[in-house]
Amino acid sequence: MANMTRRSVITAGAAAAGAAMNPALLLAGDLAGDNAARPVRVGGDATQPGGSAAEDAAPGVGESGNSARMRLLVNGRENALELDRRTTVLDALREHLLLTGTKKGCDQGQCGACTVLIRGERVLSCLTLAVAVQGAPIDTIEGLSPVGGPLHPMQQAFIDQDAFQCGYCTPGQILSAVACVKEGHAHTDADIRESMSGNLCRCAAYPNIVAAIKQARGSMGSA
Ligand code: FES
Ligand code: FES
Repeated sequence: MANMTRRSVITAGAAAAGAAMNPALLLAGDLAGDNAARPVRVGGDATQPGGSAAEDAAPGVGESGNSARMRLLVNGRENALELDRRTTVLDALREHLLLTGTKKGCDQGQCGACTVLIRGERVLSCLTLAVAVQGAPIDTIEGLSPVGGPLHPMQQAFIDQDAFQCGYCTPGQILSAVACVKEGHAHTDADIRESMSGNLCRCAAYPNIVAAIKQARGSMGSA
């Protein structure tokens, strides 16, 4: 894979590669035991400022039928949407904001491909309702580094350590890895494996992913 292609995988989530891969591959096999998905975390720190977005999109405002107006703060940008109130964050990102870097694998909380950061915490976006996280900062792979600018240390480490093959799981792996380091769970290989156990990789790039996290953890302070 050429460098430019590898950068596009790392920064925009390999839309082409993802489309070419059958997501059903992520459904099969050993999804239990050590590979079981980590709990979904929604909400987090109630002291985090919701800002005007949360206030403007208070429940009841603009509702009609099953739809509701809401404001989602994605990668620092506020987006006003009217969505079915059952819309997940994953579908809001992919289908309505056209941010396809976040991947849909199992769509049932088992693979980690849909991992995004909400209020800095990793969350399974396929199991999180968009209406429930209005005003909360949502970070996706597209916002991890500036367009055309230097890569985030974790993105660079995934390239340097050859930590992906098809790239389908990679956006979720990278966001989870960023949180893993910030949470202080990247001290040992065993810590990293445990902390990253909710993110499956059908290409089995696990040793390289651990190596990438170890490379990035030293420079994350300046990220
Ligand atoms: Fe598999 Fe969300 S798509 S956990
Ligand atoms: Fe292919 Fe992880 S599933 S790189």
